[in-house]
Amino acid sequence: MAPLSLPLRPAIVPWSMLMIGLLVLLQHMHDDANVLADPILAPELKYCHLPLNLPDGEAPFDCCAPNWDKPALDFQLNESAPSNLRVRLPAHALDADYAAKLDKAYGLMKALPSDDPRSFMQQANIHCAYCSSTYQMGNSSTPLQVHASWLFFSFHRWYVYFHERILASLLGDDSFALPFWNYDHPDGMTIPDAYMSYPNLTDVYREPSHLPPAPVMLDYYYMNESIRTADEQVAANLATIYRMVVTGATTQYSFFGQPYRRDDSPEPGYGTLETMPHNSVHGWTGDQQQVGKKDMGTLYAAGRDPVFYAHHASLDRLWEMWKSLGNEDIDDSDYLNSEFVFYNENAELVKVKVRDSLDTVKLGYVYADVENVWMNVTTGRLSDGVASLSGSERVCVMGEEMVEPCSIVLRREKEAALAAEEMLVIQGIEGVLDSPAHFEAFLNFPHASLSTMINCTEYAGRFSTLAQMILTNMTGNYLNTSVQFAIGSNVRELGLNEEEFIIVTLVPRVEDPYSPIAITSMKLQYETQGVSRDWRELRLAHRVRSEKTRHE
Ligand code: C2O
Repeated sequence: MAPLSLPLRPAIVPWSMLMIGLLVLLQHMHDDANVLADPILAPELKYCHLPLNLPDGEAPFDCCAPNWDKPALDFQLNESAPSNLRVRLPAHALDADYAAKLDKAYGLMKALPSDDPRSFMQQANIHCAYCSSTYQMGNSSTPLQVHASWLFFSFHRWYVYFHERILASLLGDDSFALPFWNYDHPDGMTIPDAYMSYPNLTDVYREPSHLPPAPVMLDYYYMNESIRTADEQVAANLATIYRMVVTGATTQYSFFGQPYRRDDSPEPGYGTLETMPHNSVHGWTGDQQQVGKKDMGTLYAAGRDPVFYAHHASLDRLWEMWKSLGNEDIDDSDYLNSEFVFYNENAELVKVKVRDSLDTVKLGYVYADVENVWMNVTTGRLSDGVASLSGSERVCVMGEEMVEPCSIVLRREKEAALAAEEMLVIQGIEGVLDSPAHFEAFLNFPHASLSTMINCTEYAGRFSTLAQMILTNMTGNYLNTSVQFAIGSNVRELGLNEEEFIIVTLVPRVEDPYSPIAITSMKLQYETQGVSRDWRELRLAHRVRSEKTRHE
């Protein structure tokens, strides 16, 4: 396939853009007195505007929430655990009664008038509004985008929380809980049956070839399916969760995504889980023939498929699982004080803060105990030791489109690595958002290719986007973001602790239609801040041990 040469950046900046730039600049100058800190406050509904443009073939629609002309209510967190916790069950194991009840709840939601904020259409529109910059930050005129930043997990927890409370109230059953799509367990790796067989839980815009029994591809890109057996796919899925939750996300920002504060530009950086399985499952589920692979494949339409909410309950659960490994939530006050607004089950507008979303028990729900098979994944090595470049490998050129696998040599700080987490940081990831873009990173394995299976020790992680067909700002749908993976466990298992250099090989997974992707910088970084205490102690113990051995 011949790559189109699309410009990564627009060549011409319209004058209106310059004016906005000037305003932003003035605002920054004004803010300089109290620099740095400020959370993003809840958007005001009255400043919502129509999506800037819609993809060809999409009927014009307005995804702003219905207006609310009073001040939003403040969410009241229940500080003591409610006596009846709602239990979110794995979706593949629902009994017929539960599935029928879920179907009934969505039937009632779909029957509400479309201007009711609790109606299914309005629920789906929430996602469009918070992802397409139709809102601006409550304390800034900067467009708001909740994805690819540290807001990702909390925003979606609140979104699913209110969605669930509305379904419960329509059923008149306070104990009702949404199921979660348990695709991290071998028994849950297809679209759950209930979402296939009940009329209110299905969606016409799903990829026909991905319906059951097709196994979900947590590291999906369109060519995987032709090169893997079903067993290999299960192994790849478990390896995906293992890398993205356990070894690749040992620091807070690597897991949650990068800080995003007042006036910041959108999409500062993805957390590991947002790229996979989040983005990949979206892209896999949607109809590959539709523009942006809608519904699930593109942000503005994803909430129109009921399975969206089971997908996000799953990610919400994986956040809990990550914490169960000894990791802690971010305690930056800008993070904790970030706000959103949602309509509740009484159709009242409620303002919520990130800080009130951190404990699901206080929100009244928990997840059923399910075995986390992926926690114990063991990987094998594909290489037999320290690699070197032979000279025939393609070298990654920063800022240039990546079309084929390429390698780059990075210098390590051996000593720093003993007491801190070693991070592979990839910045200035640029591309267009009309079609997903992906690449994988391997350590000391320059032979990595499109067919390399990812359940290996050399695999550090993968970056994966989600199509975003509605323009997010005046300059168009251009991606400029970052991702980072903790690689300490790979380095130890590959026996690279004493090495001064690591070869990083990137394997772009080119999509059809082709979507260009480039990165402007890649480095190793050593972090202690935000690393969970257990991990730090483990690393220190390791240092003491190795110093001892040296002295003996
Ligand atoms: Cu807001 Cu699954 O995306």
